[in-house]
Amino acid sequence: MTHKIRFIPSNHTFTLDGKETLLEAALQSGYSPNYGCHSGNCGECKVKLLNGSIDKTKHHDYALLEQEKLNGEFLLCAYTAQSDLEIEVNEAIDAEDLPIQSIRVKLKNLKAIDDNISVLSLQTPRTHTLRFLAGQYINLSCDDNNEVSIKIYIASCPCDDRNLQLHLRNDKEIQGKKLTECLSDMLHIQIEGPFGESNAYEPDTQTAFFICHEHGFGPVKSLIEHTLSIDDQALMYLFRFANSNETQYLHNQCRAWTDAFDNFIYQANSMESYQEIVQQIIVAAKDKKEPIFYLAGNEHFLKQVKKDLNAEQKNWVINSILVK
Ligand code: FES
Repeated sequence: MTHKIRFIPSNHTFTLDGKETLLEAALQSGYSPNYGCHSGNCGECKVKLLNGSIDKTKHHDYALLEQEKLNGEFLLCAYTAQSDLEIEVNEAIDAEDLPIQSIRVKLKNLKAIDDNISVLSLQTPRTHTLRFLAGQYINLSCDDNNEVSIKIYIASCPCDDRNLQLHLRNDKEIQGKKLTECLSDMLHIQIEGPFGESNAYEPDTQTAFFICHEHGFGPVKSLIEHTLSIDDQALMYLFRFANSNETQYLHNQCRAWTDAFDNFIYQANSMESYQEIVQQIIVAAKDKKEPIFYLAGNEHFLKQVKKDLNAEQKNWVINSILVK
């Protein structure tokens, strides 16, 4: 049975099927209500029921006061819906709504997927996941003593706050040693974050243009996955650029989005055709009501794309993510 859930005051709306908890359903739908442990201990996910009926599906040790229960307060991580619901919820909308978290995570996998890029997969403890918004980064310790750290954008969706994916350049060095070599011996890694802007937009009304160069695809992937997890999205374009004609990494992932979503348009390009492609982007954006741009890549790339877009329209909203 499907129920419609509405968060107040944000008016964020999503559906819940079956017996998943309201917290699980909200995260999978791309929203970020306050929470901590996932397991009924911290009380961070306490909310207030305004309309509808709920069903307890998980035990919780956190004890609500009698007065709180009478007020309709309950824990999002322990209940599911029995009807359509309206719930008063504190949500993270902007980056400053989220605490900086320090977590010891497990290194699940580190794999070179081509000559230039490796994908690092990390897993947090079940009861201490990382709350973040799409387009943010973490600091990752590169040694067992946590003395050397590096800033890396998260390349996965905030809807899976336990399994984090990061894209690393294979030639990146830390203190004279390849970053991938430093990490390959480590079983656990300390991370801190999230940092950076949230880069949120209104996916149901605005047309997004994601334009990225090489591993600038990392934060863009997180933004796209987040947008795809929300129920209604307007048109989305992804233009990827690489220096050579080689196949872009995770190209098949982008092709899969194109196959699965009618509103997703993807094009992989070499920098040699940059001028031609940027003109295509401008033509596509000019007839959209509220186009919004997300650029990600190195300094030179960001400067060039911004200059070309600004030359056409000064008032287009352009977000830049510098990825080194
Ligand atoms: S997230 Fe900790 S009690 Fe629900």
